[in-house]
Amino acid sequence: MFDELTKMAEPYRIKMVEPLRVLSREERIAKIKEAGYNLFLLKSEDVYIDLLTDSGTSAMSDYQWAGMMMGDEAYAGSRNFIHLCEAVKDIFGYNYVVPTHQGRGAERVLFPLLIKKGQYVLGNMHFDTTKAHIEMAGGIAVDMVIEEAKDTENYHPFKGNIDVERMEKFIREKGPENIAFILVTVTCNSAGGQPVSIENIKEVKRVADKYGIKLFIDAARFAENAYFIKQREKGYENKSIKEIVREMFSYAEGFTMSAKKDALVNIGGMIALKDDEDLFRKVQTMVVPLEGFVTYGGLAGRDMEAMARGLEEGINEDFLCWRINQVKYLGDKLREAGIPIQYPTGGHAVFIDGKKFLPHVPQEQFPSQAICVELYIEAGIRAVEVGAFLAGRDPVTKKEILPDMDFVRLTIPRRVYTNSHMDVVAEAVKRVYARRHSIKGLRFVYEPPILRHFTARLEPVE
Ligand code: F0G
Repeated sequence: MFDELTKMAEPYRIKMVEPLRVLSREERIAKIKEAGYNLFLLKSEDVYIDLLTDSGTSAMSDYQWAGMMMGDEAYAGSRNFIHLCEAVKDIFGYNYVVPTHQGRGAERVLFPLLIKKGQYVLGNMHFDTTKAHIEMAGGIAVDMVIEEAKDTENYHPFKGNIDVERMEKFIREKGPENIAFILVTVTCNSAGGQPVSIENIKEVKRVADKYGIKLFIDAARFAENAYFIKQREKGYENKSIKEIVREMFSYAEGFTMSAKKDALVNIGGMIALKDDEDLFRKVQTMVVPLEGFVTYGGLAGRDMEAMARGLEEGINEDFLCWRINQVKYLGDKLREAGIPIQYPTGGHAVFIDGKKFLPHVPQEQFPSQAICVELYIEAGIRAVEVGAFLAGRDPVTKKEILPDMDFVRLTIPRRVYTNSHMDVVAEAVKRVYARRHSIKGLRFVYEPPILRHFTARLEPVE
């Protein structure tokens, strides 16, 4: 068991390394201009510290890599699939598993089975692909995170919670028959990797039951959420992460999961259901044409083995303690320097409040994106904008959507960077902050009609 002293360093040692290179400042200025001031268009090898996402970017363990060599590549009934089912049963207590190639594959298969045209899907904050799949299935995605989440300065232990009162009012107004299902995203990525409490999940479940509505979980960061519950929720301090996970998931009918986050793999996802055999059969029928046969769903046997093993490692408390504290380490450094961030720091990333960082840049000129560009120029760091640039335009009025929260997300991959890297990141942010008054906004040179942030090209506003 790690104690106060041994907790100060990584609970693993490094047996393989990947060298990094750093371009000169002049080269970085040229590269970001060439990339149309869009960090998605940079080559990875031109990036020094890559904080674009925590998705699929984890370092796997020797135990996972060993499992890759044990891939059973049979088309049907692979032993790795069986191992995956056993891991899900053990950790979540769920009976049915359908693998998919990643999280959005799971959404694509499940959502059309649950949504009738025009129905609402209520949640804390739906992730972008989740919202897209709800809409593609004919539904309307509604975000109902608590108001406290929008106030980045003030502490709240569970900024990912759903506003239950608002949710119930909405259900009454629209009629329960017009609600397809409720989806709780743990942790709430879009609000800053913020956790949801057990108490809140229970309350949501109570309301769901009252109106006969099904409750599902978007489980991408389930382990980080459980760790926060252990730290912050009364009555859970002495429970194991597995016990907490079991309880969280006992209130839902099923989950979709991107295994590229807390399951510590580079690719993978799944749908799991507690006990609804009828829905399971329907999911199995859908997955075959969309993803692959029911026992592999778009994955190789070796991928499923890495996933089964990653699920087990992902709930290890010593690992989670290091993980969450590394993110907090960076968050604390920035806060101490007076840099506005979503507080408290979330599970997978530090979210800088772009509107507060660059108050002189109008939100239509993408202040958070401008900060991302400057961080790349400053130190070759690649962050990602989660704000107006990503939000896009209203599909009807074509007006810019200006979200309440406009963030630079410094997303920390799992087990990849050390705290020395975090020191570099903190220093770079401070330097950019020191020269913030001279930073200009950005405008489009090329704006694609949908999911524009991936391929758009920008230029500084003179
Ligand atoms: N749900 C949540 C909460 C997510 O954060 C993501 C992906 C998905 C679903 C979709 O999963 O990528 O495996 O298809 N989030 C990544 C990110 C891409 O950078 O936050 P996927």
